[in-house]
Amino acid sequence: MLENKKIVLGVTGGIAAYKSVEIASRLKKAGAEVHVVMTRGAENFITPLTFREITGHSVTDTMWADVPEYNVEHIALAKMADLVLIAPATANFIAKAACGMADDMLTTMLLATDAPVVMAPAMNTAMYENPVTQENIRKLVSRGWIEIRPASGNLACGSSGVGRLPEPNQIVDEVQELFKERTSLSGRHVLVTAAGTIEPIDPVRYIGNRSSGKMGYAVALEAARRGAIVSLISGPSALPDPIGVSEVVRIESAKEMRDAVMDRFDSADIVIKAAAVADYHAKNVSEHKIKKDDDTLTLVLEKNPDILMELGKKKRNDQILVGFAAETRNLLEYARHKLEKKNLDLIVANDVTRRGAGFNTDTNIVRFLGRDGSVEELPMMLKSKLAGLLLDRVEEILEKKNHADYKKVHI
Ligand code: PMT
Repeated sequence: MLENKKIVLGVTGGIAAYKSVEIASRLKKAGAEVHVVMTRGAENFITPLTFREITGHSVTDTMWADVPEYNVEHIALAKMADLVLIAPATANFIAKAACGMADDMLTTMLLATDAPVVMAPAMNTAMYENPVTQENIRKLVSRGWIEIRPASGNLACGSSGVGRLPEPNQIVDEVQELFKERTSLSGRHVLVTAAGTIEPIDPVRYIGNRSSGKMGYAVALEAARRGAIVSLISGPSALPDPIGVSEVVRIESAKEMRDAVMDRFDSADIVIKAAAVADYHAKNVSEHKIKKDDDTLTLVLEKNPDILMELGKKKRNDQILVGFAAETRNLLEYARHKLEKKNLDLIVANDVTRRGAGFNTDTNIVRFLGRDGSVEELPMMLKSKLAGLLLDRVEEILEKKNHADYKKVHI
């Protein structure tokens, strides 16, 4: 599967660096051409010679080597790579990469590459769970990097917890998975909505909700990775535009989201509505800041358009409509009701009361409910991984629809 693929393996300075030797060896056995870039820290754990013997290529560890032939090596490696894998990735390396620093060969090369980058963090549990490290990882993931999450177990520091580099065969499996042909979304127009809408009350106040956009942005990123032309319609979110997405339209209110979605619906093949759209808006928006003269304030709210319901009514047979249901009780019953009422092909039901699910978390716990009555229950997983599984299901529905159209034409 990795035949003729050029993989740059970045090795940073952690005890798990010894496992990188087996990773390099497995990648090579799977057919890849492996070029290793080491940091100075990594060389305290393992020597370049080991990698040179395993890969058959010289190892790069400095920007300042006196090379016999002129070659801007970090650019050459950056251009040549089909994929960059950093295993292990230390907290220090992750922090530097998240800031865009370029103070050694590996970080400099990474700034110059447009190849997919996969990192496998490995460190002490407290370091991994430290909010700074987590924020740095999130930054990189939102720019399109893929994280292979560390495993749990005994750590070199004597403690036990999350932070172990996964076994080399697991890492190589993940890399092979990324090279699998993903063509079924290629050229398809995927419309994704994300984050919550906000409904003004006066010039300084609004009604909003807790959606961060993480779920919808993960879906948009993954769809782009699979070759789709992606329009992302987003409510206010602190997340940067996902890499590869063709257009990001930032809106505020449900009405603005409706207009942006409707403008694009006819050309869309697939619509995935992960946004948390406010169901109501203030009937009268005050022109000036409302003064707190009274002890109580009554707001009259009016219903917003139900965008998904409107799409369900307009939907053509060749279009796929996916909704989300954020519930706090009767998850399956309410989600199925929405699936039918809004004429959806699939609904993603999340019980947002569960820890690790729903709003503003990196993970989600969901069930996929299909049109045919099927229910697929999934364990807690990163929203990025869930986005992949969701698009796998969408691709299956697409295939079935194409097949049905084929039969219609040929019978
Ligand atoms: O953004 P994150 O912090 O990552 O959080 C993710 C999430 C919890 C927001 C997401 O996983 C999710 O559940 N999104 C849907 C939230 C929601 O509004 O659910 P709902 O049950 O109220 O709406 C059902 C469906 O109808 C949704 O697809 C919604 O986009 C759509 N809808 C709802 C109301 C409305 N007026 N118009 C709509 O299109």
